[in-house]
Amino acid sequence: MAVERTLAILKPDCVRKNLQGEVLARIQKAGFNVLGFKQIRLTREAAGAFYAVHKSRPFYSGLVDFMTSGPCVPIALEKENAVADYRTLIGATDPKEAAEGTIRKLFADNKGENVVHGSDSPENGKIEIAFFFSESELV
Ligand code: RTP
Ligand code: MG
Repeated sequence: MAVERTLAILKPDCVRKNLQGEVLARIQKAGFNVLGFKQIRLTREAAGAFYAVHKSRPFYSGLVDFMTSGPCVPIALEKENAVADYRTLIGATDPKEAAEGTIRKLFADNKGENVVHGSDSPENGKIEIAFFFSESELV
């Protein structure tokens, strides 16, 4: 299996609930290496650009509201098969549909406020990591 990179974001609800350490520990125990890690506050412009693929969806403006509602923590991760393995670890978008033991099942309140982001392909993993991190910040 190929070594891949994927972008995680600990979303504002994760930070508000002080779950950053708990969630990162689960990611690390699952074998992911942390290449980059920072806490930021997204502007509406940046959040809108990051989720531009969802621009025409009814939840888009609520998603931008949520992602700008407080600090979040983008994390660049690397591992074999990182994209699929990370999405298995976090579970389905809606915690009601997420498998037992997944991060969203354990910690998310609802489909909108679902604790973590994950890239959906290796190509998007690279693009999304570059959205938040310069090369010199990936070590
Ligand atoms: P993400 O991109 O954040 O990792 O989540 P995902 O792939 O599991 O889900 P996606 O379809 O890409 O949706 C992006 C984020 O938009 C919010 N959402 N709300 N209220 C709703 O029906 C709804 N649908 C999506 C969630 O925060 C979701 O993670
Ligand atoms: Mg997505």
